[in-house]
Amino acid sequence: MANKIYHKHFTLPIFFFILTLFVLESFTTTIALDWSLTPPPTSPGHRTGKCTKKERQALLHFKSNIYYDPQGLLDTWTPGEEEKVASNDCCYWSGVMCNNQSRVTSLDLRDGFLAGKISPSLLNLSYLNYLDLYDNSFNGMIPMFISSMTQLRYLDLGWNDFNGTIPMFIGSMTQLRYLDLSGNRFNGKIPMFIGSMTQLRYLDLGGNRFNGTIPMFIGSMTQLRYLDLGGNRFNGTIPMFIGSMTQLRYLNLGSNEFNGTIPMFIGSMTQLRYLNLGWNHFSGTIPSELGNLTNLQELSLDFLSSCTVENLDWLSHLSHLDKLFMSGTSLGKVDHWVNVILSLKKLSALYLNGCDLSLVVYPYSYVNSSFSSSIVSLYLQENNLNSSMYHWLFPLTSNALVELDLSRNMLDGIPKYLGNLCGLTSLYFYSNLMPVKLPDFLSNLSGCTSVTLQHLDATSSQFTGSVSDDIRNFSSLQDLYL
Ligand SMILES: *[C@@H]1O[C@H](CO)[C@@H](O)[C@H](O)[C@H]1NC(C)=O
Ligand SMILES: *[C@@H]1O[C@H](CO)[C@@H](O)[C@H](O)[C@H]1NC(C)=O
Ligand SMILES: *[C@@H]1O[C@H](CO)[C@@H](O)[C@H](O)[C@H]1NC(C)=O
Ligand SMILES: *[C@@H]1O[C@H](CO)[C@@H](O)[C@H](O)[C@H]1NC(C)=O
Ligand SMILES: *[C@@H]1O[C@H](CO)[C@@H](O)[C@H](O)[C@H]1NC(C)=O
Repeated sequence: MANKIYHKHFTLPIFFFILTLFVLESFTTTIALDWSLTPPPTSPGHRTGKCTKKERQALLHFKSNIYYDPQGLLDTWTPGEEEKVASNDCCYWSGVMCNNQSRVTSLDLRDGFLAGKISPSLLNLSYLNYLDLYDNSFNGMIPMFISSMTQLRYLDLGWNDFNGTIPMFIGSMTQLRYLDLSGNRFNGKIPMFIGSMTQLRYLDLGGNRFNGTIPMFIGSMTQLRYLDLGGNRFNGTIPMFIGSMTQLRYLNLGSNEFNGTIPMFIGSMTQLRYLNLGWNHFSGTIPSELGNLTNLQELSLDFLSSCTVENLDWLSHLSHLDKLFMSGTSLGKVDHWVNVILSLKKLSALYLNGCDLSLVVYPYSYVNSSFSSSIVSLYLQENNLNSSMYHWLFPLTSNALVELDLSRNMLDGIPKYLGNLCGLTSLYFYSNLMPVKLPDFLSNLSGCTSVTLQHLDATSSQFTGSVSDDIRNFSSLQDLYL
């Protein structure tokens, strides 16, 4: 599962600035998608018996074309003497799996940083149905022989250095269930032959240089459960047929150049667990139909700076929501949003950096005291917050809180009550204007039976009081930036 940061170039200078602040929150998703969404890579296989000489030779030939193996991933792939046991049986080599007939069915060389040429000797692995070369350094065009590997069901070429357009022979691999081409330098439009790969359940084209609109044939790929087009240069509006792809569990359209309004029909894709529409040029109101996506676990509406939010009541229907990203989208006029957020019992991460929160008028008495926050990570950078806003911050902080970011605000000291949050491990408080009353905060913290604070960053905030004595009590502290 991709867990990398896409590099995206924005034309507006302000976006360069904002990107440096918030890039870390983008695309670091690891949503739990159960394997029923993509076929299991066939049984891992048995390691009894002995692999055939032909397959052994094919793997050794593959190895001989690799000139860089920094982790020694292929160290166990040794020619050795024919009659010696285990080490000579290629079914025991790292990354290799065989079936119960000792035929190689799976090659998992993920995260190997291997560089070299992908040898066509792999064609001699005639039972190979799973090939994972994710996160290596293979480059150039995708080698054509791959299309002759007719047993393949799972092909992961993500995060390599392949370039050019997607070659046409890929379209002949109609047996594929899983295709990951993300994080390469592919360009051009999505070629039409992709539409003939009707068995695909998982298609990841994210983090490339594709452009054009979303082609209509995508809508006829009825087996798709996972579609990632994020981090490209796609444009146009979201076409209506997307709303009919009601089987999708995962849809990433983020970090592109899509425009128009966010269509209401997105609300009919009720199987979605993950939806990312952030970092696009959408305008208009964020539709309350998103509240129909009651299975959502993660929703990203980051940096939709031309969109308006009329209310967030619809959010309260998303009872499975675990992560919500709305940084850079103005929430200034939204009333009651704290109660809406508090009603999300499974919410663990909330990103509201740069949301104009200082404009929110929200008397503390509005907060429904029967709610308790489940938030573990709370990001509230750059909202012009001053100390008079702690009244609404307070209900969002509970003992569940582990990570809190209040940097780049106008706060005059770390609020003392945060010292009661004994589970806090990271507190980011840099670039606040007023003196930080660190000792107050630290003295409250010392009331915890065990202190977990590991990272405290109050760089370029002025602080007052003596620190040294208090700090000595915090053996857990790993980084302290003042
Ligand atoms: C080998 O695996 C195949 C397919 O999974 C199965 O049908 C067959 O019974 C297995 N044979 C043995 C000897 O386990
Ligand atoms: C497959 O193996 C045979 C010998 O077992 C060899 O002659 C042939 O060159 C191999 N094919 C590839 C594509 O390496
Ligand atoms: C959303 O759900 C409401 C009922 O809760 C329904 O009337 C509406 O048509 C749905 N909208 C979409 C886009 O699915
Ligand atoms: C507070 O939340 C509870 C639980 O959802 C609800 O029953 C109650 O009506 C709410 N109270 C107020 C004042 O909104
Ligand atoms: C805090 O910010 C609000 C909203 O911008 C403002 O009305 C208020 O006067 C500020 N309070 C202080 C103490 O600066």
